[in-house]
Amino acid sequence: MDKSKIPADQAEALGALMDDHRAVKKLFKAFKDTGDRHEKKSIALEVCQQLTVHATIEEEIFYPALRGVGDDIDDMLDEAQVEHQVAKDLIAAIEEDPAGDMLEANFTVLSEYVSHHIEEEEGELFKHAIKAKVNLRDVAAAMAARKEELMQQTA
Ligand SMILES: [Fe+2]
Ligand SMILES: [Fe+2]
Repeated sequence: MDKSKIPADQAEALGALMDDHRAVKKLFKAFKDTGDRHEKKSIALEVCQQLTVHATIEEEIFYPALRGVGDDIDDMLDEAQVEHQVAKDLIAAIEEDPAGDMLEANFTVLSEYVSHHIEEEEGELFKHAIKAKVNLRDVAAAMAARKEELMQQTA
């Protein structure tokens, strides 16, 4: 999705979520590109932290703002909720044993899974939110404030 083409009512909220998506995708690549075990571990833990914050602001603020806008959106939100749960299970497994032999497998599955989820969000959910002209200005401000708070807690 091209950020510059998002209407003003949705630009800030969707743009911020897309920035988060870009940031983790960059880290997925960095994990793949390094052969260093310690670096893999620290990248993996950074991804887990970023994804946990991102999922929390989506679940607490973004998804509820879209709930009830339309049947198709509600179906997407249900699916997103299930996908978040699967991601959380993988995150928990990684955080439990970030230096273990299963890190590579867990992280690879997490990155494939989250990449798919990101494509669905941007390609379907965000597009539908724009089409439905949902005003997300207050949502953008609330998400930014909550993100700030969560980053401080987990830093
Ligand atoms: Fe999500
Ligand atoms: Fe997302």
